[in-house]
Amino acid sequence: MEKIHDILSDKFINSEAEIRGWVYRIRSSGKITFIILRDSSGIIQCVASSDNLNEDQMRELSSMTVESSMEVSGTVRKDDRAITGYELAIKSYKIYERNENFPITKDLGEEFLLDNRHLWIRSREFTSVLKIRSTVFKAFADFFYNNSYYQVQAPMFVSTATEGGSTLFTVDYFGEKVNLTQSSQFYLETLIYSLEKVFTIAPSFRAEKSRTRRHLAEYWHAEGEAAWYSNEDMMKDEEKLIEYIVNEVIKNNSEDLNIIGRDINVLKKIRAPFERIKYRDLIEMANKKFGMDLKYGDDLGADEEYNIMIHFDRPIFVTNYPEELKTFYHKPDPENPGEILCHDMLAPEGYGEVIGGGERIYDLNELLDRLKKNNLNPEDYYWYVDLRKYGSIPHSGFGLGLDRLVTWICGLKNIRDSIPYPRTVRRVKP
Ligand code: 4AD
Repeated sequence: MEKIHDILSDKFINSEAEIRGWVYRIRSSGKITFIILRDSSGIIQCVASSDNLNEDQMRELSSMTVESSMEVSGTVRKDDRAITGYELAIKSYKIYERNENFPITKDLGEEFLLDNRHLWIRSREFTSVLKIRSTVFKAFADFFYNNSYYQVQAPMFVSTATEGGSTLFTVDYFGEKVNLTQSSQFYLETLIYSLEKVFTIAPSFRAEKSRTRRHLAEYWHAEGEAAWYSNEDMMKDEEKLIEYIVNEVIKNNSEDLNIIGRDINVLKKIRAPFERIKYRDLIEMANKKFGMDLKYGDDLGADEEYNIMIHFDRPIFVTNYPEELKTFYHKPDPENPGEILCHDMLAPEGYGEVIGGGERIYDLNELLDRLKKNNLNPEDYYWYVDLRKYGSIPHSGFGLGLDRLVTWICGLKNIRDSIPYPRTVRRVKP
């Protein structure tokens, strides 16, 4: 049995091949039937003609339907008119299932397609996005293994909040109210005391009511934490990481990028280092150069980041946000009072934030102060506080939204299209 992609080659001309998959398109003109068959690797035109097949077989093949499953064997030929340049002259075949009326056709409404996501994900474009997504997940892990990080796992049921109470999902846990995790960060912080450099890839949950093009209620969060790292050290790893991931996609998925209409040259520009801009300078730049009307202290949401990042063709780091805009664990910048040693990485072409990270407070009293200022009870965070009592060290970390990264790399309009089964305010099925 061959994979379709492998036989699309001059080496295979006049050879016998056996393939199996699903009917992608079918066209019949009485005497001849063209079945375009797809498998996970690609598509090829298969030709049924009376040269090789009897009348019953010809009739059966001409009545095949889109997304029916079958096996076909025959001779590979070159044909420039065929969709992928080669075709298979069918000699024999086996039908696994012939369906009636596959529901996904052209020009369907968005809700219908979302209800039928389990069928829609078979589309050629979606298959390509899924392949790119697979490369991104692998490249993320490979980069960290290659840079002496250990992979670890944190729990999803948690009793604390890392990113503020407003986006917490609470669930009933044997009669007790607990939360679904917003980030594995605090657990990663505990793990650097044994492993020094750690990363994890896990879902995070945010009860985001905002219906933007970049928010999911459940998203894939890739996080790293490193002992002895400053904010700048962390950014250095992150820019190399993004360059590496994008390169891996260029190397492994050029055909997929072509299928989804993503210009590979845009991705080839993604080279480290990325520009670092302080929040206050970014506000000034946005107002002066991009005609925006922002004030120091304004939070940057999807719209603001879009309006800034359409002017960039490479990612940037925004550092030194005002203390009030970020969560309690960030370390204040001793050189810039009121600002913290943190960074967001914003993706170009209007995509905006894909990474949030920074240096963590490691002084016990400073942390206790910040907890109190934020009306949080240190007892609830006793294990996080403990880290500042026993061998505390400077350290930094980050969280990367993998779905957002895939959305940007693929040039998609909505984060929903980067993940097979998106969970949003309005949707938990299929
Ligand atoms: O900026 P965030 O909230 O940072 C944290 O959670 C830190 N505790 C991470 C850390 O330092 N370990 O989230 C990190 C990233 C964002 O930059 C964004 O890419 C993604 O997670 N993200 C979302 N992606 C999709 N849907 C959502 N609702 C998201 N919220 C955050």
